[in-house]
Amino acid sequence: MVKIEAMIRPQRLEEVEAALRELSVGGMTVTEVRGMGQQRGVTHTYRGSTYTVNLVPKLKLEIVVPEERAEEVVDAIVQAARTGEVGDGKVFVIPVDAAVRIRTGERGPAAL
Ligand SMILES: Nc1ncnc2c1ncn2[C@@H]1O[C@H](COP(=O)(O)OP(=O)(O)OP(=O)(O)O)[C@@H](O)[C@H]1O
Ligand SMILES: [Mg+2]
Repeated sequence: MVKIEAMIRPQRLEEVEAALRELSVGGMTVTEVRGMGQQRGVTHTYRGSTYTVNLVPKLKLEIVVPEERAEEVVDAIVQAARTGEVGDGKVFVIPVDAAVRIRTGERGPAAL
């Protein structure tokens, strides 16, 4: 199993959710986060003066899937989340050692 951790633009959640529904992933956690990438934030201009916001609101999606499904899920997220502008986000894939469905005690991929 692997955990796919995707930082995306909040405005892209609906598209990403729809793409994931097509793939019928077991579950997902969504968290409001703030972060920065290689631009270290974003610069705005307001009434002639510029100011920088270092930490930009993003959504963090966490999805645990069997390893053999990781590639298609990552591809679906990337396709649905991309606008082509800086700040589109990032995806990390992290190994997961164990999973348990608390209600039934099922373990491993069966718990997803
Ligand atoms: N190396 C990293 N480690 C952890 N989180 C990161 C990392 N890079 C980006 N993030 C997270 O992803 C969000 C979006 O990053 P962003 O898309 O701006 O990446 P980038 O590398 O600057 O690419 P781009 O040049 O397309 O903007 C950040 O706000 C942060 O939450
Ligand atoms: Mg960036």
